[in-house]
Amino acid sequence: MSAIQEIITHHESEIDLSEPVSKKSKLMPTEPLSKLEEDARIYEYTSAANPNMSQIPVMVHPASLHETGPTRIIPFDLSRQMEIEYPCSSPNLIASFLRICPNESLNTQATATSQAFYIIRGSGRSVSDEDEIEWSEGDLFVIPACESQVVHTASSDSAIYWVNDMPLMQYLGVQPATKKFQTTLFRKERLLAEVERIKHQPGAEHRNRMGILLGNRITEENTKTLTHTLWSLLNMLPARDAQRPHRHNSVALDLCVSAESGDKVYTLMCPELDEEGWVKNPIKCVWKSGAVFSTPPGWWHSHHNETDTPAWVLPMQDAGLYTHQRTLDIRFSSGK
Ligand SMILES: [Fe+2]
Repeated sequence: MSAIQEIITHHESEIDLSEPVSKKSKLMPTEPLSKLEEDARIYEYTSAANPNMSQIPVMVHPASLHETGPTRIIPFDLSRQMEIEYPCSSPNLIASFLRICPNESLNTQATATSQAFYIIRGSGRSVSDEDEIEWSEGDLFVIPACESQVVHTASSDSAIYWVNDMPLMQYLGVQPATKKFQTTLFRKERLLAEVERIKHQPGAEHRNRMGILLGNRITEENTKTLTHTLWSLLNMLPARDAQRPHRHNSVALDLCVSAESGDKVYTLMCPELDEEGWVKNPIKCVWKSGAVFSTPPGWWHSHHNETDTPAWVLPMQDAGLYTHQRTLDIRFSSGK
């Protein structure tokens, strides 16, 4: 046995690794702890380096929630499953549906550095403290830190997918001090024109994605993401096609923009790949137009379309933050 192994064995025989070291009577100081010391905890390294945290669940926020009922905010709140004390859909983000009946208004407020709004259906306008945005189905806009409420008024029956990083602010215990970008609008026509353009590029059929990443002037020299924290992709899944598995460390909150009804368009997800490079013993998440589903961090996921109609998905993630940290670790299964 080497000298290092002997030292480790010696320690393990004396200390129960399941308890904080500071609770062990042998190691407790004889003097009472001062006020400044009493909150300090000390753990044996291997017992605490990978703490037992609640997992990010696979959950669905169904479209039926925004299709009926009064004008309201409908949060996709997974805080109970994640044992977090404020509403959130992932540790850093909260996604919600906004349902706005015709000729009604709904106010939203978020202490957040970034807020994204994607128009699921309808038309209207949103007024923030600095900007007024006219919108209709398929448009997407982002607004920066904003102290006042944003007032959304619908001219027809409307639903909006709203994602912001307020849970990250709550975790840090901070409020944004600056606006990191300007309000930015992506019109549906421009998004679809870009998808058409990349579809016809040489080699497009061999790509893992038929999609466009949404960027911003303030990130074009670095993360190339929607904002400095948010990331989004408008992804088209062609008819009778499958996109091989990939994984990343950011949690995905995918809005199914459109898919043929039934159960023939879906995502398969799981922590591991099989020998052929496809997901192993996966959970199946069927795409329903206007619904949102979560994908846990690090899980492999593949998208499948067994219908004759192209399907569309719009994931929102905190991957701006991960890309900045160099920790996104996006990987694609090459298969065998
Ligand atoms: Fe993904």
